[in-house]
Amino acid sequence: MAAIASTLLLSFSTVSSSSLFLTRITSRFSFAAPLPLRSNHTKHMAHTLARATATLGLTHPSNTDSPKISFAAKEVDVTEWNGDILAVGVTEKDLAKDGKSGFENPILKKIDSKLGGLLAEASSEEDFSGKAGQSTVLRITGLGSKRIGLIGLGQSTSTTAAFKTFGEAVAAAAKSAQASNVAVVLASSEGLSKETKLSTAYAIATGTALGIFEDNRYKSESKKSALSSVDIIGLGTGPELEKKLKYAGDVSSGIIFGRELVNSPANVLTPGVLAEEASKIASEYSDVFTAKILNAEQCKELKMGSYLGVAAASENPPHFIHLCYKPPSGTVNVKLALVGKGLTFDSGGYNIKTGPGCSIELMKFDMGGSAAVLGAAKALGQIKPLGVEVHFVVAACENMISGKGMRPGDIVTASNGKTIEVNNTDAEGRLTLADALVYACNQGVEKIVDLATLTGACVVALGPSIAGIFTPSDELAKEVVEASEVSGEKLWRMPLEDSYWESMKSGVADMVNTGGRQGGAITAALFLKQFVDEKVQWMHIDLAGPVWNEKKRSATGFGVATLVEWVLKNASQK
Ligand code: BES
Ligand code: MN
Ligand code: ZN
Repeated sequence: MAAIASTLLLSFSTVSSSSLFLTRITSRFSFAAPLPLRSNHTKHMAHTLARATATLGLTHPSNTDSPKISFAAKEVDVTEWNGDILAVGVTEKDLAKDGKSGFENPILKKIDSKLGGLLAEASSEEDFSGKAGQSTVLRITGLGSKRIGLIGLGQSTSTTAAFKTFGEAVAAAAKSAQASNVAVVLASSEGLSKETKLSTAYAIATGTALGIFEDNRYKSESKKSALSSVDIIGLGTGPELEKKLKYAGDVSSGIIFGRELVNSPANVLTPGVLAEEASKIASEYSDVFTAKILNAEQCKELKMGSYLGVAAASENPPHFIHLCYKPPSGTVNVKLALVGKGLTFDSGGYNIKTGPGCSIELMKFDMGGSAAVLGAAKALGQIKPLGVEVHFVVAACENMISGKGMRPGDIVTASNGKTIEVNNTDAEGRLTLADALVYACNQGVEKIVDLATLTGACVVALGPSIAGIFTPSDELAKEVVEASEVSGEKLWRMPLEDSYWESMKSGVADMVNTGGRQGGAITAALFLKQFVDEKVQWMHIDLAGPVWNEKKRSATGFGVATLVEWVLKNASQK
């Protein structure tokens, strides 16, 4: 079959093809946006950790080299595309057949005619009905592509989340076929608005990149992915799409960095190492970032008694992290802060986590809020939005047990002067966030979003894949929810029920740090509210559920994509 073999090689030249088979390649746009699958930070992290000679257990993450995937938007005839897998996204409706058992959908019809009806036969034999989660890959001859993959999109596919899942399925197919070149096309993409095409391309690209990613740094042996290029066909070409694909790459690298931080165990990722990772973001993007790391002594000067109380028991000293993003040029119209809970390990303290289901062995993920914040910083360092200043604040520490540590019943004093009776040392996240929020308010910001793996109660309420959001501001709720619709991350607004504050009253101090079992995610949010300036718009995101993927036994990088999108909403120019 005389395929147009040049398609893939044309990345940088302009082709106005007169070929009958080739509709058009506007290759100015079929650029290869390098999408680093492994952040440069993996290397940095490995080096940092290698230098720390005394890592408990002698574990050092390996310095895995990042395979790069280039994403390109193309307009080519799918039957002429050359490569390993042509992945077609198919809805249940797309599979409708005409009288002669052929497809009605023009793309499927065209492919099927080149394959002599194989596709229609196979799809009915394998009972492929286009349901979400279904996929089938066939080795074929007769097309430019070696394989055709049908990937189910379900009934309708208007959401980013659905197209992200589609991208992940493409990645899974590419992995199992060890494919290096993949093309992605939707059976029905005509009639989509330009905006929808852009967001669909973004979702497919991030889904594929994140689906290919495997964190093998702590394995002694691992297999590398072969995937090097993904062509997105039928969603247009042009500078806007090009920019969107670069954006997908920037966000994905932030998500991957966040995942790597969360996956790193607490013996490797101590508060000090987390601070070093943050500093390296600042030095890598030194045109827009400055970093300030405060030690325990400096935190004491700032009267952060609540945070230091939590940190007291650990041999690994606390590090208070503050990165500041300033745009490369122009004026600043709005100042924001992103605050992340950064418990590199949460044993519970004297209220130690015991009993089935307490998941103490997973508590390395208790810095998931800070990973989202630093992942967003990494992405924004590459995107460099204008008109917006962003402060990234993490009060990093470990919740341990020792004779120097905080006891249940102790009273600690936060940096705004408020006193807290610690009736449970396992409600430590809010104690660290108290001082971090006071600090963020002192930066003169207008809006703060904090993210924390704060309560098991939030997981009970919303399950493992939805984060709870809490804010008194309808305006901020709208902004962040809209951002999450673009990012495909699931959020659900929860009430800040003031009457529940009753359970947080102390007989001897201004408040206790835990109410009863009931409404535990809400009382935690009400506690945080005590440390936020009333003039500041504030939202708390509890990501205790979605921080971790139980099935994959790995971090998700949840929060990064929404935060980046929200910052860009506040920027004057993206
Ligand atoms: N880090 C935990 C919250 C958590 C629990 C996250 C399970 C993910 C899964 C937090 O520090 C904590 O221990 N919260 C307590 C609060 C309680 C003592 C009021 C909880 O949720 O049990
Ligand atoms: Mn805890
Ligand atoms: Zn915790």
